[in-house]
Amino acid sequence: MQPVIDILDSRVAAAMKAATDQTDCAALVKPSANPKFGDYQANGIMALAKNLKINPRELAEKVVKKLNVDDICEIPEIAGPGFINLRLKKEFIAKSMLEINADADNRLAVDQVKKPQNVVVDFSGPNIAKQMHVGHLRSTIIGDAIARMLDFLGHDVVRQNHIGDWGTQFGMLIAYLKQENPEVIKNPDSVHIGDLEQFYKDAKQKSDDDADFNDESRKQVVNLHNHHKETIMVWQHIVDESRKHYQPIYDRLSVDLHKENERGESFYADRLADVVKALQKQNLAEESDGAICVFSEGFKNKEGQPLPFIIQKTDGAFLYATTDLAAIHYRINELKAKRIIYVTDARQKLHFQMLFAVTKAAGWAGDDVKLEHVTFGTVLGEDGKPLKTRSGENVKLKELLDEAVSRARGVVEAKNPELSEKEKENIANTVGIGAIKYADYSNNRESDYVFSFDKMLAMEGNTAPYMQYAFARIKSIERKAADKGVDIEKDLKGLKKLNLTDDAELDLGKHILRYAEAIEIAAAECRPNYLTTYLYELSQKFSTFYTSCPVLVAENEQRPTRLLLCKLTEKTIQHGLTKLLGIEVVEKM
Ligand code: ARG
Repeated sequence: MQPVIDILDSRVAAAMKAATDQTDCAALVKPSANPKFGDYQANGIMALAKNLKINPRELAEKVVKKLNVDDICEIPEIAGPGFINLRLKKEFIAKSMLEINADADNRLAVDQVKKPQNVVVDFSGPNIAKQMHVGHLRSTIIGDAIARMLDFLGHDVVRQNHIGDWGTQFGMLIAYLKQENPEVIKNPDSVHIGDLEQFYKDAKQKSDDDADFNDESRKQVVNLHNHHKETIMVWQHIVDESRKHYQPIYDRLSVDLHKENERGESFYADRLADVVKALQKQNLAEESDGAICVFSEGFKNKEGQPLPFIIQKTDGAFLYATTDLAAIHYRINELKAKRIIYVTDARQKLHFQMLFAVTKAAGWAGDDVKLEHVTFGTVLGEDGKPLKTRSGENVKLKELLDEAVSRARGVVEAKNPELSEKEKENIANTVGIGAIKYADYSNNRESDYVFSFDKMLAMEGNTAPYMQYAFARIKSIERKAADKGVDIEKDLKGLKKLNLTDDAELDLGKHILRYAEAIEIAAAECRPNYLTTYLYELSQKFSTFYTSCPVLVAENEQRPTRLLLCKLTEKTIQHGLTKLLGIEVVEKM
């Protein structure tokens, strides 16, 4: 099933074309802001009339005469200066709901795209030998939701975890590990780094205090670049030990990232010199104060001087920018990406603008390749400043998750003390982790937001627990059915005709139909909050329906329709949360 909005848009566009002989007609069909004016509204008439210098209302009348939407809508109405209002027919809503029902355990009748694209989503990108902190939360989960949505729509998604696993700091880490734990050379598996943060700090301390140690560190950097066997082995061990810290976090967050998605900075190390050469050959890169830089048009500093994109330092070292150039080249040429989405915080905006400019200037990306930087704001503490621990350190992601789970446990204990230990634990995990993720998703990603356990764990409002509870509530209706002598399966089996009469039923039915539309726009604009808003509205409409329309005690001619509304609401919430946002649900809470 195509999203209704897309069908209507193309029908109105066709009518505009038929009425005017113009080839380029944008119908601009949007959901109506006010249900009084129908469900959808075509806003494109005014612009076309202006172009043709004709009266927009008269054009609207002509277009409506050519418009063929009988199978979907009531008779279209013209309003204001030339809007066309469209109201869905009951029969169409009923027919579509049955279609969704037939696919309820699969894709809820959401079509795959006709032209799948190779899409690279670059997200998470933690730095090796450091604990993941709250700063990595957003990239990790927003990127995962984007990848999930695009994947669901049928695109060929390649997840790339651009981990920070290369650079001079590794010289120090390798030297330190060898010194502290010589065993690492003979039997690396026996050497573990329990506390990454401490390990990094200790190595740093040593390099600050000990000049000989620094010589050794520098030697290790050289060895690393030359692929010296022993050095690489220790380096690999540090990377593997680091993964043991971040993989469990991905798993707890239901983030679909694994070792095979890693394409860290190290992967590009041997390609950097060639990147610089290639850009020099094209006369794009030039020397400036000893460094090699690309000056792209339109980038100026505060003084109005051209801004350099530095790709090689005076001492010959390559930079973050050089690696990103090699990576983008690899993605376009070897992964055949047609869309590359980078999910990082807004502070890297200039970096990516410059990266994209160089990529285009070098001719690596043609017009058929879309480069996108998906940015997000900062997670703030209750004081309105970036979230930090009391001692001013970054909040570790693991600790944040632990606390959410333990607080959720408190809520379960208070609400449902009679549940078994196992159930309580499961609910606490699901609700706690879900709350953190959902709170992040539900904000406009570009805004900063205040991290508040109380708010995200509230049972009221647009929160995970509210959504999870909405799901569990429908499940409990199903459990009650048997007591009331209702056989749901029998009621729904072979259901061919719906009986949609109450406004609340219709309103809910129409919203269920709009799921495909919500996913389409959320994926196109990389905005998970469009999906959370949709789901929240769905559960609110369900509440209104459930308050005004009895389900289990309804008359025989109404009950199957109402049971179907319950089922499709439940399936949609479940699909949206688990499949697209990676937030689990529970049957009881
Ligand atoms: N490691 C980087 C950081 O922590 C993120 C990497 C983002 N991806 C990229 N291709 N630059 O900021």
